[in-house]
Formats: sequence, structure tokens, C-alpha cells
Amino acid sequence: MQFGHFDDEAREYVIETPHTPYPWINYLGSQEFFGLVSHTGGGYCFYRDAKLRRLTRYRYNNIPVDDGGRYFSINDGGDVWSPSYRPYKTELDFFETRHGMGYTRITGERGGVRASVLLFVPVGINAEVHQVTLTNTSDAAKQFSLFSFLEFNLWNAEDDQTNYQRNLSIGEVEVVDGAIYHKTEYRERRNHYAVYGVNAPVAGFDTDRDTYLGFGNGFHEAAVPHAGKAGNSVASGWYPIASHQLDVALEPGESKQFTFVLGYLENDADDKWESPGVIKKDGARELLARFADNASTDAEFAKLNEYWDNLLGSYTVESGDNELNRMVNIWNQYQCMVTYNMSRSASFFETGMGRGMGFRDSSQDLLGFVHLVPERARERIIDIASTQFEDGSAYHQYQPLTKRGNHTLGSGFNDDPLWLILGVAAYVKETGDFAILDEMVPFDNDESKAATLMEHLRRSFNHPLEKAGPHGLPLIGRADWNDCLNLNCFSTEPGESFQTTGNKTGGVAESVLIAGMFCAIGPEYAALARRRGDEAEAQRAEKAIEDMRAAVANHGWDGEWFRRAYDYYGNVVGGAENEDGQIWIEPQGYCVMGGVGLEDGKAVKALDSVRERLNTPHGIVLLNPAYTEYHVELGEVTSYPPGYKENAGIFCHNNPWVIIAETMVGRAEYAWEYYKQITPAYREEISEVHRLEPYVYAQMIAGKDASRHGEAKNSWLTGTASWNFVAVSQYLLGVRPDYDGLIVDPCIGAEVGEYTVTRQVRGATYKVTVTATGTKGARLTVDGKEIEGNTVPYAPAGSVVEVVASV
Ligand code: BGC
Repeated sequence: MQFGHFDDEAREYVIETPHTPYPWINYLGSQEFFGLVSHTGGGYCFYRDAKLRRLTRYRYNNIPVDDGGRYFSINDGGDVWSPSYRPYKTELDFFETRHGMGYTRITGERGGVRASVLLFVPVGINAEVHQVTLTNTSDAAKQFSLFSFLEFNLWNAEDDQTNYQRNLSIGEVEVVDGAIYHKTEYRERRNHYAVYGVNAPVAGFDTDRDTYLGFGNGFHEAAVPHAGKAGNSVASGWYPIASHQLDVALEPGESKQFTFVLGYLENDADDKWESPGVIKKDGARELLARFADNASTDAEFAKLNEYWDNLLGSYTVESGDNELNRMVNIWNQYQCMVTYNMSRSASFFETGMGRGMGFRDSSQDLLGFVHLVPERARERIIDIASTQFEDGSAYHQYQPLTKRGNHTLGSGFNDDPLWLILGVAAYVKETGDFAILDEMVPFDNDESKAATLMEHLRRSFNHPLEKAGPHGLPLIGRADWNDCLNLNCFSTEPGESFQTTGNKTGGVAESVLIAGMFCAIGPEYAALARRRGDEAEAQRAEKAIEDMRAAVANHGWDGEWFRRAYDYYGNVVGGAENEDGQIWIEPQGYCVMGGVGLEDGKAVKALDSVRERLNTPHGIVLLNPAYTEYHVELGEVTSYPPGYKENAGIFCHNNPWVIIAETMVGRAEYAWEYYKQITPAYREEISEVHRLEPYVYAQMIAGKDASRHGEAKNSWLTGTASWNFVAVSQYLLGVRPDYDGLIVDPCIGAEVGEYTVTRQVRGATYKVTVTATGTKGARLTVDGKEIEGNTVPYAPAGSVVEVVASV
């Protein structure tokens, strides 16, 4: 069952009903100012940091779900409704929400009035624009009132929800010329404020929530829109909001447009007052003036579309498979941008208050983003590396606003260091910018402890070697990629963090996954060292990688698959001898990617075990059999009910590791099948089962042990986006940048038939035509000449290179 359809031409997903199984959302903004908006108008926005600079309020865990957002209400002769359906839930004659690239257009029609709200964040402007188009579709003249509404957050989203004894007294606003200024805490330690204005004379306004809603009312009972008359209220403490009233008259067939702008502004700390107690508003006035006429709004919207045209041009595929085309060309890349911007902070499953940017998460997000805006990837790499410690370990998370590591979580996640190497390697391959390796980068954000980025990578590489256990495998620390495999924590108290509790010392818990990662990612470090002329270091690294492969083969192999770990006591985790959790997905993918067992059949055997034990029609589950009891020595993974999250859920992030591994052993059909299973566009027809957005990946799909098998959770912010983009673009379609050239090595299901990938890299364009045969090992013709191997040498910027791959 579907609730909408893809409009590929417009690069939109069109939701045709308010009644989707869950709020289906979109993101606005691409650089500093961001918003989340659901198809029924719910959501919020913030400047850079969802916790520390939240502009508008949103209530998670609300009843009804997703109530609260930017609402436009119409009172047409006493009939009150909203084009977004919510909050009134008044039935509409027409409803449609189009989520596009950085914008959402919500349209509703009732009683002869069509109202369309276009929400977007203009490129390079710290504001959200709400362009409202009202059309009289009836054959009589219409007069009605339009009310805008949003609720301010008192900046720090966490404090806003907890510190009522203070917060209910501090709310302050100013209203000047119909523009509403939010200035809570501006008098003392803040020099930023928000403004919400509109490019038309207002008939009234409100800034006090109790006046607008009426005390005790829900959004759907809002007093002002029902009365058809604004209260001109000025908030003093309690709950500041912003609402404008516009009186509108429309002849039959006539349309009018209004542009509302919600902006974030900063003043110099020592020059922030216009007069005592009055905010200096030059910035806001300038901002509103930019959107004074609707044509300027249209021009800004056109710029946004151009921005996305350019971004999405660097990798495109044309094939006979529409789902593949739309995922690769549009939605997967779009999601990569969003995850890059948000890390795991703000979604409809992440409150924006809990987590900042993850060291491992952001390093992996780079993989799917680096081709979009390499300069921003460069900056991010430096930010991430600056939170590394001198011993190669790293803060697990940092706050985007301060760029400082989070002390509450600290470090000790022993996979973290390796991901940095992977992100940097992807950046260098994409850009050829080896100079980044010479950048001086601080440790622990302390400039006095700076070293070259290459030195950071050396310490990353050495970290698993220096922290190795009795089998020569890396010690796991608090957890590895699987945050819920906590072999040293032994948490028994409700409410304490599974990861940061205890962390007993003296144990020997080792991770086969980190070992596999070392074998797969380590060669990138060796390659970088060699290209910098440090042959001795390259050879040292290669020797360490060989030793690690041997350690995995000797101690990480269980007979039919790779083991997962050794616990605190040295017992096997993920082996036939275990009752539950006998086989885990992560080491099967990563050890094969790391080249373990490619020659002696272990790799294929491990992947056969995945197929037999872990695969389902909805994706590959994380482990099997699911744990049914809590094991204190294994940690959080065993705390989840069977089939959910890390306990045998389909944790989509690691499915592409198996996809890539399958391409490494040449099994194109399996790789292709695994790709389609979890890719949302192929699941659109079962939206009533999947429940979340059919245009973006979810972190998890309930596994075979769950009663809700096939149901997705945690959409949008997941490393699944970047890893699936890597899997499909680089390994299935088979076009990936390397240090000296573009590798063309397709391995995709025969049903895809003939396709062309257009890839722009380092200023040149490569047109790669392939006929899929379900096998690997294509021979290449470059501009009409056959070449040896599968690397197309980089051509000078501006060239167009024709590549034909045939088996
Ligand atoms: C975290 C990742 C982690 C994954 C698996 C996600 O929620 O953001 O860092 O690798 O879960 O546990």
C-alpha cells in the first residue's frame, strides 16, 4: 500500500494523504540554519546546534503525535482549517505535501480556497521562509483571515523543558511594524535574537501563547483563529509565540502571495542595543527587506534548486530501473547531505538534545558526502581530528557549536580512531588534496598539542595495535561500532548508561570487528604513507595488517563464520558454542572487506552463513539467535526485545558491508538482492508494513524475531545513508575514485541491464557505460582504447572521458 508517489522530474516525494502511518518528514537548510518539517506541518528549527540554539519548540512524545509546528490557519466565515490538515484535522477537499530537496510544499484546499505553503531555508541565509499562496478556486469573491503561528523555544532546548521555575518568568518579545522579535535572555548573556515577519500589513498579532490558544486549549482549539481576531498580546514571561493576522480578499480565480520569514540574527556583544532595552535590529530589517517582494522569494527558491542541481550532478546513473535511478540520483545523496549536517542529533527519533556529532558517525558520513561539497568535508575532517587524544583515541562525540568533545561520554570506543582514516582516505581520493595531510591539527582541541593530520592518522592506525588483547585482536573498550556490545561495563542499575558505566579494567575483551576494520581500513593508511614517500612506514603498516589477518584467521574464525568478539573473561562471543548470538553480521562483512579468507574459502563460507542464518526478505538481521535474556557481560545488545535494534533487528547500516563483501567475492546477484531488500524506494509498495518514509533509509527494520517484522524505525539519521551510497555507487554500479584514477569495476544484478554512470571528479567528467551481466571482471575501453586493469587514469579538468565496461 502506498500513501504517495515519487515525482522524479521534480525530485519530490508527493504525499497524497495526511494519514500516513507516521509523520513523514523533510529537512530544510544545508549549512547553518536547519528545520525539520513533517507532511502535516509539525517540526521545529534551529541554528547550527539543535540543543543550544533551538528557535522553535517541539514536544517529543506528544499526544497527539507530532502536534506543534509552523501552522497557518484560515478562518473563512467561521470555518477554521489549515492546509496542513493538522492541527484542526478539518477535512480537506484536497491535500498534498511535496517533500523536495531542502524544501517542503504543503497544499490544502477547502470551501473554494486553496492554500499552499512553501517552506525552505535560502542558501547562505540564516532564516526559514514560509511562502503562502492563497487562491480563490470558487466563483464568488472571498474574504477571510489568515493566521500564522509558531512557538518560540527559549534557546537551550534541554533547559527549556526542565527549568520551569526560571523559564516561565524570562520570556521577552518586541513587536515593531508587524515583525515579532524574540529576545529572551538577550538582556544578559545572549547577543542573538529571532524575528518572524511578513511582507504585508498585518491586521493584528499575538506573542502570548495563552492569549492565542486560550488557556488550557490544544493547538486545534486555538482561540484566536476561531475568533477570527488577533489579541495583539505582548508576552511577558510564560510562553512567547509569534502569530500574525492577515485579512485577505480574493476575487474568483485570484491568487495572493505572502512571504513570512523566521530569521536568526546575531549582534556584536558590545553593540547590541538600539536604545535601552530595545534590540538593535539592523540585521533583521535587512533580512526582511530581502524578502519584501514575492519575486525575491521566488529568486531565492530558484537559487536553492540550482544549488541542488549542481550538487547532484557529480554522480548520476541512467538505467531502466526507476527505483535505482531515483535512489542514486536523488534521495540517497540527499539523505547523505542531511546525515552529514545533523550527524545523529535532530530527527523525529532524536531530540537534538542528547547527542552531538559522533566521531565515528561523522567520519562515516563523510563517505557519502565528500563528492558533494569537498571543501566542507575538509573542514569537518579537521574538526573531527581536533577531538582526538594524543594516544590516538578520541572523544566519542562533540558539540557542533563549540566543536569541543563531550566529557560526559568521554572516549574509549576503540573503533573510533580507524574511522578517521577511512574518512580522510575518501576525501583524498575524491580531491587529490594530499596537502590536507600536512595540516597542523590539535589534539583535544589544544593548539599547543598540534601535529600533522598524517600524524593523527598514524596514531589512529597504531591505536588498535597498542591496545591488543591475548589473541592479538584489538581490545574493544566501551564498545566498537556496535554501541550496544558492552563487554567491560557490566551495568546493573536502571537508568545508567550501558556504555559509560563501569568499564572494568583488567579484562581481555577483544573485537573481531575492529580487527576486520583494521584489515580493511589499514591499507588506506599504508597507501597514504607510500604516496608521501614513507615506504618504510607503508611496509610496517602492511606487515601489521598481514599479522592482523592471521590473527583473525586463527582466532576470529569459528568454522563456518567469523566470531564477533571475546568477552571480559576470554569467552567466545558469536560462535557455535554460544546458545544465543551465535553469528553476528558485522565481522562477516568487515573481515571479508578486509581481505580475510578471500583465498582459502573462508570469505565465501562466511557469506553463505549470512545468507542461511541472517537473511530475510526485509534485510539481513544483526545476529542470530536473538538474545532472550539480559547478559550483564554483553551489555545493552541483550537488553532489547528479540528482533529490535542491535538484538537481531535488521540494522541497516551494516547490510551494505555484506553487499560490498558479496561484490568482493563476485556474487553480483546476492549483492543486488541485499541492496533492494532494504532500499526504501523498493519498499514503497509495502508502506503499511514499513511505515516510515519510502524515500529515505531507516536505521532499523524489525527483524524476524519481532512480531512487527518489516517495520522500520529511526529514519533519516543513520550511517545507512552513506554506506548504501558507497555500496551502490562504488561497488554495485562500480564507479569509485581511487588515488590515481577512477576505478570502474561493476558487479550488479543482470536485471539492471545497460546503464550509464556520469561521474564528475577532480574537474573531469567520466561517462561510464556498462551492461550488467550479474558477474564481475569487466574489461574497459577508455575513449575507444582497451586498457589493462580497471583504473581509468584521471584526465585533466574539463575533459569528458568515455568509458565502456564489458564482460
Ligand atoms: C550510533 C552508531 C552506532 C550504531 C550501532 C547508532 O545509533 O549512532 O554510532 O555505530 O548505533 O550501535
